[in-house]
Amino acid sequence: MSDTAQHDLIQRAAERLRNSQRPAVLTGAGVSKESGVPTFRDAVEGLWAKYDPMELATPGAFRKNPKLVWDWYEYRRGLVRTAQPNPGHDALAALESRFPGLPVITQNVDDLHEQAGSTNVIHLHGNIAESKCFFDCQGSPTLIDVSQLEWDKENGPPACPHCGRWVRPNVVWYGEMLPGDQLQTAMLASQRADVMLVIGTSGLVSPAASLPGVARHAGATLIEINPDYSAITRIADIKLDGPSGEIMPRLLAALGD
Ligand code: OAD
Repeated sequence: MSDTAQHDLIQRAAERLRNSQRPAVLTGAGVSKESGVPTFRDAVEGLWAKYDPMELATPGAFRKNPKLVWDWYEYRRGLVRTAQPNPGHDALAALESRFPGLPVITQNVDDLHEQAGSTNVIHLHGNIAESKCFFDCQGSPTLIDVSQLEWDKENGPPACPHCGRWVRPNVVWYGEMLPGDQLQTAMLASQRADVMLVIGTSGLVSPAASLPGVARHAGATLIEINPDYSAITRIADIKLDGPSGEIMPRLLAALGD
């Protein structure tokens, strides 16, 4: 696409946002890629190109090999711990000066939106920095502060201090329900939105992937930011091609914020 065409599309998106009363945002792994956190479905560098989700991201995989799964999440925690928000996260946070409390629905398990300053982040797939009892023995979720525990790391995850069974990362695995309150809040924000920014998601994992359709059905304009095609592209009203770390600051500048 020519620079002029791209410029015009960004102006159109900015115009639509300028007239918006209730925007919402849906983000995926792409928004954190420029912070050094790998996406899932990138053909070469994506996590699912190197690892099998069925061996690492299901309750059955954890039961079968808790040490393998725990260690893999420790590796990913390490990647996230050192990551910093990038200009895409920063621009989204800056949008709150125009739209206080802008709902940022994310599939990401990092906290880079919060670090950038977004105040209303709805985590659909959990938080990788947290851990919980595998059986949620004290109610859902039974969060456990593992920094307070001592255990033999060669043996796998620590034991729950309440029931003695395994502790696991507080993320949603394949085959599990999403946290009900977060999903309901995300659904309401999508139904109420008059503009939805869809940033850096392949749109392949439901129910998160259904939210742009929910918003559009309720009358919202969909603005997608992604360097590639996604399952959302065909229903997007405006598609801004490029990495969010470049496009989001340009969109913010076009808004005049
Ligand atoms: P994916 O890895 O499926 O998709 C990442 C998307 O980001 C792709 O469409 C890329 O084209 C796009 N992308 C890459 N670089 C980008 C950039 N710099 N700026 C903007 N976009 C960029 O990640 P998700 O859609 O988030 O779930 O994946 C959804 C879920 O699948 C994850 O939450 C995870 C995974 O399995 C669970 O673990 C439950």
